[in-house]
Amino acid sequence: MAHLAVNVDHVATLREARGAKYPEPVAAAIAAETAGADGVVVHLREDRRHIHERDVRILRQIVRTKLILEMAATTEMLGIALDIKPDVVTLVPEKREELTTEGGLDIITHKDNIKDAVATLKNNGIDVCIFIDPDLDQIKTAHRIDADMIEIHTGAFCDATSEHKKTAEFSRIVDAAKIGNKLKLGVNAGHGICYNTIKAFKGLNEINEFSIGHSIISRAILTGMDQAVKDMVQLIKELKSNEAL
Ligand code: PXP
Repeated sequence: MAHLAVNVDHVATLREARGAKYPEPVAAAIAAETAGADGVVVHLREDRRHIHERDVRILRQIVRTKLILEMAATTEMLGIALDIKPDVVTLVPEKREELTTEGGLDIITHKDNIKDAVATLKNNGIDVCIFIDPDLDQIKTAHRIDADMIEIHTGAFCDATSEHKKTAEFSRIVDAAKIGNKLKLGVNAGHGICYNTIKAFKGLNEINEFSIGHSIISRAILTGMDQAVKDMVQLIKELKSNEAL
């Protein structure tokens, strides 16, 4: 069965909305692990709009599954990652004005910088994943620069409003997952996945892990973290199929 990594950024978003000390993203991470999550994800942004360095440091102490740090490949962030040592770093693009991560990292354009970042992290014992669009050239480049994993950007599929667009975007994800798998990259997927869109991934056994935040935290506001995570774990369990697509 594919793993579920729960992104707790939006617990911090709520905290920052009031500049308060609560709700505590660390508590949400503990609840997610208790409910069956296989990993905890946080994105430390340059502008610290939700997650702060303090959150990542405490999470490093308490996460028992796997701590995944999303970050831009900047000198500042690399320094923090080498100091805190998450289990995995997922390299993402970052723009100050964006509401959320808007696209995959263009590792063809930024190849040298990303290649150096991958080497630095790996030399320090941190596994490296790169968040990219389902584009075959980007995936081949991820393989060439020695990334351990890719995370396929599922946003265009999840946000598609027509059936035609949904089908086209999903077929790009299928191709990307298969080529990633063939190149022996770990294949993860994330962005915009909710309790409905997750069902489309049935039988796509090449995906090792789903990284999901907004939909789980949104449901947790109404049902509690335990139920929200358990509901998603159950849907992921139901995806496993022995039939080839
Ligand atoms: N993966 C990456 C690389 C992301 O940047 C995000 C958003 O922070 C997610 C997954 C989770 O996306 P969502 O919050 O839409 O589930």
